[in-house]
This record gives sequence, C-alpha cells and structure tokens, in this order.
Amino acid sequence: MAKVICITNQKGGVGKTTTSVNLAYFLAKDKFRVLLVDVDPQGNASSGLGLEKTGLETSMTEVMLGVSKFSDIIVRTAFKNFDLAPTTPQLANAEVEMAGMKQKFAVLKKAIATVADDYDYVIIDSPPSLSLLTVNGMIAADYLILPVQTEFYALEGVAQLLESMAMVKKAMNPDLKLLGVLATMYDKRTSLSAEVLAEVRKYFKEKVFRTSIPRNVRVAEAPSHGVPVGAYDKFSKGAKAYKEFAREVEERTEQ
Ligand SMILES: Nc1ncnc2c1ncn2[C@@H]1O[C@H](COP(=O)(O)OP(=O)(O)OP(=O)(O)O)[C@@H](O)[C@H]1O
Ligand SMILES: [Mg+2]
Repeated sequence: MAKVICITNQKGGVGKTTTSVNLAYFLAKDKFRVLLVDVDPQGNASSGLGLEKTGLETSMTEVMLGVSKFSDIIVRTAFKNFDLAPTTPQLANAEVEMAGMKQKFAVLKKAIATVADDYDYVIIDSPPSLSLLTVNGMIAADYLILPVQTEFYALEGVAQLLESMAMVKKAMNPDLKLLGVLATMYDKRTSLSAEVLAEVRKYFKEKVFRTSIPRNVRVAEAPSHGVPVGAYDKFSKGAKAYKEFAREVEERTEQ
C-alpha cells in the first residue's frame, strides 16, 4: 500500500512544486515506485517534467470530474520508477463544477485507492490555496509536508493551514499527520534566512526536517529543461539537499 504525501502551503511560490518533483525523483532513485499527482491547475509539476500539457487528451481534470479512470491518465516520466498524473489548466474550471457535486471531498482519495498497490509513494503537489483541490489532497493523504520559504512572512497563513488540517482530521481523515516542515530557498549569506529558520524551529520544533534546501540557481533552471535538479546537475547543492531530504522522508515514513 502506497504512502500518500501531500505537499501543501496555501502561500504561493514557497517551493511546493520544486519539492514535489525532486522528492519524487529521489525516492524513485532509491528504488521506490513513485507516482506524482499534479492537482494544481497551473500544472507546474507536469511542465517541469517536460510534459506538453496541450497535447494531453485526458488528465487529472477528467479524473476529478469522474469521467476518466485514474489509471488511464497516468504517464511514465523519463525516469525509472517515476510516474506522473498530469493536469491541465482546465482543472480550475473543473474545480468550480466539482463544487456542485455530492461527493466532492474524497474524489482524489478514491482515485488513488485504485492504484495504491502499484506504488510505494504517492506525492501530491497542491495549489496555493485552501481550495477544494487542496482539501482533496489533504483527505487523500497519510502525511502532509509543509514547505516554508525562509523569507519574511514565512509563517504567515500557517495558523490557518493548521486549522484546515485539524478540520480535515476531525471530519474526514483522523489519521492525517504532519510529516514535517521543510525550509526552502535558504540563503546562508543573509541573516534573515537564519533568523526565519530559527523562528520556524521555535514554532515547529523537531517537526522541522534537519535538511534545509538552499537557494540554488540550478534548482530554478532545471524545470525549463523538463527535468528534476538531480537529473540536471546532480552535483549541485540543490540536488544534494533534495537527496538528503528524501532520505529523511524515507526514515520518517518507515514504520
Ligand atoms: N531552492 C531553490 N533555489 C532557487 N530557486 C528555487 C528554489 N526552490 C524553488 N525555486 C524557484 O522558486 C519559484 C517558486 O517555486 P515553486 O514553483 O516550487 O513554488 P510553489 O510553492 O509550487 O509555487 P505555487 O504556489 O505557484 O504553486 C520557482 O521559479 C522555482 O524554480
Ligand atoms: Mg506549485
């Protein structure tokens, strides 16, 4: 049975997609069978893996509307053990349509259940909002990972996110756990990064992963080449950090 991890933070641009793609890549490198599910209508995870979204006949959009089978939309990536459930921008419209559906909260959970035996890890990349799609991600998940950018306002909105998590736990998914908090885009040249990281550690204590992801230009360049940073420049600081981070995720999800 796959362990399902939703990468979430309603704040935009904090490194959710980068973390989803690179975590999936390094878990697959460690021989786990991995599925990355893109439920953000922006589709950054899909395009960051070199997938041409306009060429897709069917995607997460149709799965969320209940008109396509989940297993039919899954594609292989260029990497061994690493599959992708891509999305299209139309997922944004689908979300509006979904609002009128009866069973709208557990659509993703049910879809993932149909392939849970085929994977060791399912990673969900969610949009920058506490929307129906994000709630679907939280309900489908065993664990949440919260990436926080080590910049001013890093913890803004976190209280609200934790409230949503508590609500989902209470109403639909009592076993949901916060796997950890990941500091992203850490810049060791600035004292601000260090101060923010200290603040995040004070708030989340041992929940914060030992590994922080440095701000690294290779990480930012990789998606334009349609590959994770580990495949783009495996010797870069960003790639090394994401590899370490994936190992921590393996440890924390072991039992
Ligand atoms: N460690 C890093 N070093 C340098 N640039 C980074 C790093 N991590 C992410 N970025 C860049 O920062 C931007 C935001 O990252 P990303 O898209 O992963 O965030 P996100 O939380 O998924 O955004 P959104 O909320 O829009 O979905 C991207 O351009 C990405 O390439
Ligand atoms: Mg994103």
